[in-house]
Amino acid sequence: MMRKMMMMLQIILLLTNSVLVSSYGLNSTVQCERGDASETQEVRAGESVFLPCPNLQCFEETVNTTYVWFRNLSTIKQVERIGTEESERIHYHQSVLYILWLNLNDTGRYITRWWYEKGQCAEFETDVVVYEEFSTNLLYDTLPEQVVSRINCPVCEDEQGSIIWYKDFSLIPNQEPGKVLRIQNSSKESEGIYTCVCTWEHHGIKHNSSSSRRVTISPQTISSPPKFLLPINNSIVIADVGSEVILNCSVFYGLTVCDQCSIYWEKNGLMLDGLNGYKLKYRETDGTIQSVLTITKVSESDLHSEFHCKATDSIKVIFVSVTLNSRASVLPVILACICTFLVFLLVGGMLKWFSLDLVLFLREIFIKLYSKEDGKLYDAYVIYQRNNLDEMTSKTVSDFVSGSLPKVLESYYGFKLFIHGRDDLPGEDCMNLIETKIQLSRRLIIILTLGASAEISSNSPEAYDLQVGLHQALVQGETGVILIQLGKMQDYTHLSLGLQHLLRQNSPLLWRDGESSPNSRFWKRVRYQMPAVSSYQSSRVKSRSMTASGPGLLV
Ligand SMILES: *[C@@H]1O[C@H](CO)[C@@H](O)[C@H](O)[C@H]1NC(C)=O
Ligand SMILES: *[C@@H]1O[C@H](CO)[C@@H](O)[C@H](O)[C@H]1NC(C)=O
Ligand SMILES: *[C@@H]1O[C@H](CO)[C@@H](O)[C@H](O)[C@H]1NC(C)=O
Ligand SMILES: *[C@@H]1O[C@H](CO)[C@@H](O)[C@H](O)[C@H]1NC(C)=O
Ligand SMILES: *[C@@H]1O[C@H](CO)[C@@H](O)[C@H](O)[C@H]1NC(C)=O
Ligand SMILES: *[C@@H]1O[C@H](CO)[C@@H](O)[C@H](O)[C@H]1NC(C)=O
Ligand SMILES: *[C@@H]1O[C@H](CO)[C@@H](O)[C@H](O)[C@H]1NC(C)=O
Ligand SMILES: *[C@@H]1O[C@H](CO)[C@@H](O)[C@H](O)[C@H]1NC(C)=O
Repeated sequence: MMRKMMMMLQIILLLTNSVLVSSYGLNSTVQCERGDASETQEVRAGESVFLPCPNLQCFEETVNTTYVWFRNLSTIKQVERIGTEESERIHYHQSVLYILWLNLNDTGRYITRWWYEKGQCAEFETDVVVYEEFSTNLLYDTLPEQVVSRINCPVCEDEQGSIIWYKDFSLIPNQEPGKVLRIQNSSKESEGIYTCVCTWEHHGIKHNSSSSRRVTISPQTISSPPKFLLPINNSIVIADVGSEVILNCSVFYGLTVCDQCSIYWEKNGLMLDGLNGYKLKYRETDGTIQSVLTITKVSESDLHSEFHCKATDSIKVIFVSVTLNSRASVLPVILACICTFLVFLLVGGMLKWFSLDLVLFLREIFIKLYSKEDGKLYDAYVIYQRNNLDEMTSKTVSDFVSGSLPKVLESYYGFKLFIHGRDDLPGEDCMNLIETKIQLSRRLIIILTLGASAEISSNSPEAYDLQVGLHQALVQGETGVILIQLGKMQDYTHLSLGLQHLLRQNSPLLWRDGESSPNSRFWKRVRYQMPAVSSYQSSRVKSRSMTASGPGLLV
């Protein structure tokens, strides 16, 4: 392809300007235009070559034109005319020169003089270099650092012949006939020098021409399948009828030498190449192939069509799909999306706000269905500091512990609490009682106050129940802890280490004076942390608190 393009370029150059005088002085009166570039052919001794005139027009337009071939051998350094006798080892037939059974003395310059019109001629040069042995100079080219799936044989391009392939000069087994060698699953082992030998016939005699290419493979570029960079599969492009739309298809192939790798656009299965109203631009750069489709005027049918960009390699065809959509039909979709989003936002917000109520509500339902006895007697054991408090704190604590707490949790919601000082019996073994009661409770409610000092004498009952409770909660992990903080605190350094540890895990619920309504957020959060009230138990507790003013009095 490249060569042919070069040739076309050459003849165009040649026919427009650059009239040079022939330097081959056989007939000094002849003035020929000369192509400025010369070709070089490296060949092996013992083989044969046929050299077509290196200019495509010169090679093809043989009617009403005449040719004369000359040579200037490097050994003789004189221009000689070549004959047309087929019995000669070197002869020409119109635009093709034959050099049979090449030897080293054939190295030199070969000149085609082409009379393409009466009195008008052009000259083209081909340099031939003959090598006795194989040499790397003979390599047609090197295919470096690339994935190779096929190798072309560059000889016998214009002549019939049968081709046999060699790798590193030994025959490749099981090769398919044809000019192209397929390399399946190219890998590091595929590297080497590939030689094709073309055997062709000239006047009943078989001749060989060969060409070698080196293949090198870099591990990171081995056989990567094509990857679409653009467009996004199943994407929608917004377009108006009558407007221009550009669709960009871009496929990464890796640094592959792949003659079959190409991409193209289809509309409803029809190739758009050359179709009216569609322009295509094809470009290959750095392992990426791009095909940019321009729809000059979007039609109604374009809006209802699927556009496919297809990418082929030597194995398969893959595609991505793009549809056009008019703005009018997209707007409702966008609006719907926004609305859905807003609704989700709203529902999410509401769920977050009402989550506590929802959980409490659901829990009540489930407990009614699945309540079961766990052997515990109390829902919570209340721990608070009773001594060593200043007057104000002492009043706040006792108001809370004997006021709001039992009123809301017990009377209103039906929990059963164990409160020291209210529920313990005088004379009972204090230590024993505390341990038993805590074990019989589902939760510990620890009331934090400003004066709850860590240095409470360890003999006092409140220090002991705190110790036992924390042991139960922290070490055995059996009992859930609810921390209620009365009033503001700067920090918690005055509390015992066990409490500080608990505080790091869950923040306390802050109680402010006046939050006495059972439906306030504070009490909801307390209830959320409390165990669920079983219907069985709550009815029992309710009846109890109605008939008796205190459990201690009944016994
Ligand atoms: C030289 O060229 C002229 C014109 O083409 C031709 O008439 C003549 O015979 C040629 N002479 C030789 C020696 O080829
Ligand atoms: C070749 O020349 C003859 C007469 O000079 C003419 O009739 C014929 O059309 C030409 N052919 C071409 C292909 O130019
Ligand atoms: C023939 O080629 C040699 C170089 O190989 C060059 O020096 C010489 O001028 C050429 N002869 C003609 C007549 O062009
Ligand atoms: C090549 O040329 C040299 C001298 O010019 C000659 O001795 C030799 O025999 C030639 N070789 C062939 C193969 O014609
Ligand atoms: C190439 O690889 C495919 C699958 O990876 C395997 O089926 C096939 O046999 C291989 N071909 C050769 C020639 O190794
Ligand atoms: C051409 O090459 C084939 C093998 O590739 C070989 O068998 C044959 O002898 C060669 N013929 C000539 C004339 O060199
Ligand atoms: C197409 O996309 C490629 C990137 O994949 C970009 O480099 C190129 O400029 C684009 N071409 C057009 C016409 O948008
Ligand atoms: C694109 O999507 C279609 C299905 O809509 C699928 O058949 C095709 O394989 C996809 N193409 C790629 C490259 O993933």
